[in-house]
Amino acid sequence: MSSAATPPLSVTARVPAKINLELMVGPLRADGYHHLATVFQAVGLHDDVSVEPAQDWGITVNGPYADLVPADGTNLAMRAARLLARTAGVDVPVHITIDKDIPVAAGMAGGSADAAGALLACDALWGLSSPRATLEDLAAELGSDVPFALLGGTAMGSGRGDRLAPVLGRGRYTWVFALGDQGLSTPEVYAECDRLRSGQRVPEPAPSAAMMTALRSGDAVSLGRALSNDLQPAALSLQPHLEEVLRTGLDNGALGGLVSGSGPTVAFLVSDTERSLDLAVALTASGVAPGVKRAVGPVRGAHLITAASGPRGSFVSTGNTGPSGPRSS
Ligand code: C5P
Repeated sequence: MSSAATPPLSVTARVPAKINLELMVGPLRADGYHHLATVFQAVGLHDDVSVEPAQDWGITVNGPYADLVPADGTNLAMRAARLLARTAGVDVPVHITIDKDIPVAAGMAGGSADAAGALLACDALWGLSSPRATLEDLAAELGSDVPFALLGGTAMGSGRGDRLAPVLGRGRYTWVFALGDQGLSTPEVYAECDRLRSGQRVPEPAPSAAMMTALRSGDAVSLGRALSNDLQPAALSLQPHLEEVLRTGLDNGALGGLVSGSGPTVAFLVSDTERSLDLAVALTASGVAPGVKRAVGPVRGAHLITAASGPRGSFVSTGNTGPSGPRSS
């Protein structure tokens, strides 16, 4: 039998974190969600999601954030694997291993990324070759941010954030992330946003011309000015010290800064790698954030990096590490 015909023993997908360069939040809908007009960008912080056939469904989470992630059936990666199995009529349990580098409950969609990785890896492990549209539909069922984790790059999101259109922008951007010391719950941040805006007329959200112009030009200074997030006042209301984090970044060379998604991570745009090191040092020295990470964006969405196949478990590379290069630490 040729190695191409041998089913893989395990498959690994690499998945990126996201930030929202712009996040416009419309009125609360009857289904509990909000209409969004958002611009996502995938950034070079990654989780690796590996799946292998097992007697029973199971999950292991490795890395510095492992204690913060449920290692049971409520994990979004596990729900993704089971949803695909159900949809495709597969009866082969898998053990999922997540090597986590994306901060948890941070507004960077790490859980959504793991779900996208599990869909892609299980699809390959089970030899399904599902049409892209099927994976996208399942992704949207799992969560508003999961379809973008599959797509990556830079994209406009509408609906509840799950309807995507790639943005053909220019430029590679250098980001510095000030991590929070306590996570924020996405539903709580949206609820706080509604509370702060109660009594106000909230317009239907629409992307700004300034953001689109900045992305088309690839000019980091314009992009820094155009960054905006309607959830930021809510995140600041729930964690007022984030004001100081924002001020510290803007006082130390950032071209712009904003709370990432529902927070509490604060993302700062800088002009180059040297500035990113300077800002990381300044944020660390000021003591305003318990951790700092750096990454570039945009990077590609979920993709397979390895499939260990054949009786002796030979490794077959099915992709590279993407434009982000090696994993950050
Ligand atoms: O879709 P997902 O499960 O990630 O959403 C988590 C929560 O975030 C929702 O239950 C809802 O409270 C809030 N949300 C929202 N409007 C959106 C996306 C998320 O209100 N467009």
